[in-house]
Amino acid sequence: MVTIAFDVYGTLIDTQGVVSELRALAGDRADVFAQTWREKQLEYTFRRGLMRLYETFAVCTRQALDYTCAHYELSFSPEQKNQLLEAYKTLPAFDDVEDGLTMLHGKGHRLFAFSNGTASAVDTVLVNAGIRDFFDSVISVDDLKTFKPSPDVYHHFLQQAEAEPSEAWLISSNPFDVIGAANVGMLTAWLRRSEKAIFDPWGIEPTLTIESLSELFEKIDE
Ligand code: LAC
Repeated sequence: MVTIAFDVYGTLIDTQGVVSELRALAGDRADVFAQTWREKQLEYTFRRGLMRLYETFAVCTRQALDYTCAHYELSFSPEQKNQLLEAYKTLPAFDDVEDGLTMLHGKGHRLFAFSNGTASAVDTVLVNAGIRDFFDSVISVDDLKTFKPSPDVYHHFLQQAEAEPSEAWLISSNPFDVIGAANVGMLTAWLRRSEKAIFDPWGIEPTLTIESLSELFEKIDE
């Protein structure tokens, strides 16, 4: 039995799921819009963490949306922005997630959702995606009012999950998250969600690189 922390947005939950909503508003720029929005959202978390100027992940997401609208010179109405932010609550899980979690849970592993989102926001998105019941609990950085990849949030996870770093896994598609967890001595799996994804060349490698959660199930048991 092992303890496994799953990153949520981009790992279990597909943040590109807003693209279909965006298509009606941004036309053929929907893909680049979604990508800029996501990159800006993360940049805001990094900067707020460094500045110790915490606002929730939802605020970072909303402010990143305002930025992205200005960047692409698109003026969405407040209702249209709200509609996009609502869509963020009902984002789908990636295709491999339900089967992978079923196998890992069935094996008796302790599964946690560990996210930059507040516990209630993450709870909502996991319930809407139909995967909440796989997790023992949701552990949020909001408890500490800072963001990944501060070492404090990974230590907080370990404390909450009552696990030693050398026997706890962090599974994430986000290289900054994998490197953050490796930095405190956790085992890590980089879930490579796209062939184009590049791991940061920092000389800190993930314990495993996988392409689906079923691959994680097979490799964790080896
Ligand atoms: C999260 C962000 C990193 O869910 O996607 O924590």
